[in-house]
Amino acid sequence: MTLWGGRFNSGIDDAVFNLSRSIHFDWRLAQYDLRSSLAHIEVLEQNQIISSDVALQLRNAIKQLQKEVKDGSFLPLPQDEDVHSALERGLKEKIGDVGGAIRAGRSRNDQVATDFRLYLIDHMIELSTLLIKLEKAIIELAQNYVEDIAPGFTHLQHAQPISFAQEIAKHAHAFARDISRIRDWLTRSSFSPLGSGALAGSSLPLTPEHSAKNLGFTGVIPNSIDAVSDRDFAAEALFIMATIGIHLSRIGEEWCLLSSTEFGWAEIDDAFATGSSIMPQKKNPDVAELARGKAGRFIGNLTGLLTVLKGMPFAYNRDLQEDKEFVFDSVENLLLLIPPVTGMIASTEFNRAKMRAAAPLGFSLATEIADFLVKQGVPFSQAHEAAGSCVKMCEVRGIALHELSDQELLTAHPKLSPAVRQAVELDGAVNGRTASNSASPSQVKIQLSNLEDSLKKDLAWSSNERQRFSGMMAQ
Ligand code: ARG
Repeated sequence: MTLWGGRFNSGIDDAVFNLSRSIHFDWRLAQYDLRSSLAHIEVLEQNQIISSDVALQLRNAIKQLQKEVKDGSFLPLPQDEDVHSALERGLKEKIGDVGGAIRAGRSRNDQVATDFRLYLIDHMIELSTLLIKLEKAIIELAQNYVEDIAPGFTHLQHAQPISFAQEIAKHAHAFARDISRIRDWLTRSSFSPLGSGALAGSSLPLTPEHSAKNLGFTGVIPNSIDAVSDRDFAAEALFIMATIGIHLSRIGEEWCLLSSTEFGWAEIDDAFATGSSIMPQKKNPDVAELARGKAGRFIGNLTGLLTVLKGMPFAYNRDLQEDKEFVFDSVENLLLLIPPVTGMIASTEFNRAKMRAAAPLGFSLATEIADFLVKQGVPFSQAHEAAGSCVKMCEVRGIALHELSDQELLTAHPKLSPAVRQAVELDGAVNGRTASNSASPSQVKIQLSNLEDSLKKDLAWSSNERQRFSGMMAQ
């Protein structure tokens, strides 16, 4: 069934109908469409565009449809073009031609823009709650390893020893930023296009402020043309989701690496690993690999939508129907991915002894020698040279820094007294990093407790927002 036809002599070609059809993906908007229809009916009734009797019939039929869509007893048919026409068919099946009264003052252009925003608001809030759980799992994992020393890396080479909690906690900050991006996004995106009609608003006495408030929006989009053509909210959401995907992929890479036989630091729990069909000994980090691999589609979806939007004239163009699948794909894949990554992180065990044994390897304490000299007034460039020559001597003799003789130390620099051996002692070196944000146990502890505090605020935010939009959430 099409929602138009008055001026046409014939129906459309089957191939055109197949091209036009979006019901196979936009059915996901059904509950949001019904919810926004209820808000629209209220506006029509309040402004006496429809009688209370008609409003009651429409409302009851929509409420019935809400139940039937939920339990699957009302489903789209092959002849339905999109979610809007399928639901209008449903309305007319229930109450006859009076169902068409709902079309007053509304076009599919403002309708789809409203439904799509409501869908995304609902799902971005849901994503934020999954991210909060993920961040909590990361913080708790870090708390287990505050006192454990491991090598820190730059260029994937041993760089300096650190509290291993610093290594884990860095991921919590990345997701905390993602949550804050969702918060900013919601502030900008929670404005309603409903009432903008096709592009010009309506000559009927509508009150779009009313439906906006009813749906949980902060207000009405001030320009009707912008309202029906803006998809920034979708592009920004895709950027946020791509960034989350990238953060997950970096965790994925790290877990693959650290659980490899060569590293042997991480033991992924059996429930979050898979076996091989041919090699009985294999335990593969598939969750981590999928976390790494799925980043490709999140980035693709963002560039896909931006490419659709580039150069498009304002107001509604049918190109805009191409906006949704990118978003559905990113949302659904993140909903699928975040919980197993959270479980994998929460249940991974790290080998403390192995990490500690690796910590001083690769002369990771050489910077301490330079800092020791700086504390005695030697300019850093000279101190760096001296520490470098210590490393060279060790490499030639195949020994560690603390094993250099008193004489060798003095050859490297006249101020390099035997006291430097304390500086190249592992615990002392790590504990000595006392500046805030440093990788010492004492600083990481403070950092983790700050993260916990801000996580509590994010949790309060997400439940408030869930509450605010609860009227429009999928039933
Ligand atoms: N299925 C359409 C979409 O997703 C709904 C809007 C149709 N509007 C139109 N003027 N043909 O964009």
